Amino acid sequence: MCGITAYIGYRDAYPIIINGLKRLEYRGYDSAGIMLYDGESINLSKTKGKVSILENKIKEEISDSGVIGIGHTRWATHGIPNDINSHPHISQSGNLAIVHNGIIENYSALKHELIDRGYSFQSETDTEVLINLIEEIKKTEDVKLGKAVQIALNQVIGAYAIAVFDKEKPDEMIVAKLGSPIAIGIGKDNQEFFIASDASPFIEYTKDAIYLEDGEMAIIKKGREISIRKLKDDSLIDANVQELQLNLEQIEKGGYEHFMLKEIHEQPQAIIDTLRGRLLTDKGIIKISGLENNMKRFLNAERIIIVACGTSWHAGLVAEYIFEDFARIPVEVEYASEFRYRNPIITEKDIVIAISQSGETADTLAAIKLAKSKGAFVFGVCNVVGSSIARENDSGVYTHAGPEIGVASTKAFTTQITVLTLIALRLSRAKGTMTSADYRLYLQELELIPKKIKKVLETDEHIKAIAKKYLLSTNCLYLGRGYNFPVALEGALKLKEISYIHAEGYPAAEMKHGPIALIDDRMPVIVIATSKGHYEKVVSNIQEIKSRSGKIIAVVTEGDTAVREIADHVIEVPDTEEALTPLLTTIPLQLLSYHIAVMRDCNVDQPRNLAKSVTVE
Ligand code: G6P
Repeated sequence: MCGITAYIGYRDAYPIIINGLKRLEYRGYDSAGIMLYDGESINLSKTKGKVSILENKIKEEISDSGVIGIGHTRWATHGIPNDINSHPHISQSGNLAIVHNGIIENYSALKHELIDRGYSFQSETDTEVLINLIEEIKKTEDVKLGKAVQIALNQVIGAYAIAVFDKEKPDEMIVAKLGSPIAIGIGKDNQEFFIASDASPFIEYTKDAIYLEDGEMAIIKKGREISIRKLKDDSLIDANVQELQLNLEQIEKGGYEHFMLKEIHEQPQAIIDTLRGRLLTDKGIIKISGLENNMKRFLNAERIIIVACGTSWHAGLVAEYIFEDFARIPVEVEYASEFRYRNPIITEKDIVIAISQSGETADTLAAIKLAKSKGAFVFGVCNVVGSSIARENDSGVYTHAGPEIGVASTKAFTTQITVLTLIALRLSRAKGTMTSADYRLYLQELELIPKKIKKVLETDEHIKAIAKKYLLSTNCLYLGRGYNFPVALEGALKLKEISYIHAEGYPAAEMKHGPIALIDDRMPVIVIATSKGHYEKVVSNIQEIKSRSGKIIAVVTEGDTAVREIADHVIEVPDTEEALTPLLTTIPLQLLSYHIAVMRDCNVDQPRNLAKSVTVE
């Protein structure tokens, strides 16, 4: 969480940084701030709230000139979101400025030491402690900025991606990373450099970027080659310059009112991209190189443990059903945050699958490291190419959903399920746990999914009309069974995330053991009742809700008549094989949450208190 960006070069830094912050706002939006250096002084403006508020404030407060600057958008950890706690932070002398994404865990002890040495602090943040520590080291040890940063970071416990600027060395910027991501865009002939938490702030300026690894620091000087060093032993590292695949169109709204709506509508194409080159239906083949290269391990695995957080955890739950059903491998699905702290039993015969859209989630990353230390083979399912998790895994597969910017995850979820389905199918073939007729049928059905999602998207107006009826609800229940139980959890998560309506997902049959007590005529119950998969049982559950006057919104298979007779509203999805229904039933639940949130005037793309990339535990 938190987005940082910086520029050093020959262009006006302000527009680059302010636009960069807008693109990074998905990482947190409690406060925002910018420091610009105009050749003589440091000009600082920061505010509680969003980048748009900062933009107005800057016009009134400071000159926006300068070819060097740093910016920050914050997800608060230490200190409430207010102007003073906002970044950038300036050192006591007024010479150094810093932006930071992460947490300095031992900041309190360091702060006391610095207070004893005469430092006073304006904010409650750990970051202000870090910049003063750097200043103190620079002064007392009489070292250059880079060295001071290095010494300071070796005293620090925690996680960070930082950019540091020194007024006394205005042609230079120091960046460093441990745990939080940082990308450096390189301009022509090293005449300009862009620094950011991801590459989105600078894609229109350069396609060449370096992603720092954990424990690395870069000294960036205008007109010079970047020098990258290991923080621990100061050794020099060769810069690995990558060509960015991202383009501007992918990170813009493209005519949609919100990123979330755009991303919901992108799902057919995202799934086509995920399947491309991997699902070869004509040949009856599934080809995923990360899997093929490690087939033996998968075939010998005694157990698969899936670790993930949030929506990715829900994709893991769907995968549990698919893997056990198709490939007959026992699966456990774990919240990464719980798994990492409970001394789990992991052996070399286990395969750990880590699922993460961002590839930066701190708990998932820590779970991977733990599993690796115990000898398990870790396979990643990530969306963001080159992300920390993608690099930490032993092997893996990308989802190719394209950038997901709305904080509530949509296309990442369906593409994760798609990839996991491909893996399970491939394994079932290799293990002989599925007949070739079924295997071929699944391949054909999977190929049809994008078209079927398009059909579901056509019911948008109908879903919007339903949303209108329930926008004032205070509670909502989501029920599903089998493959669609995780979809019920995901539907409930989507609603609470973006509309702030309390919602719970339950396995339909568990309703009798508690949630049924909540049902009255004000309680909307969203039930997934597709024709394949415990249909009759779910219909009985619907009857139970009806007889307690609950309002029923049912997601059914096209042509259904039985549920239509009892439900208040039905939303149809095309027929498909049971294991593939989550790819269709998820879509109306995403749209329902979206419309309810919009009608409640909520900020759909940036819901309160949330962030997209959770780089703190
Ligand atoms: C945050 C996001 C969720 C996401 C979760 C896990 O909570 O708001 O949308 O599902 O993190 O993120 P990951 O990037 O690891 O999938």
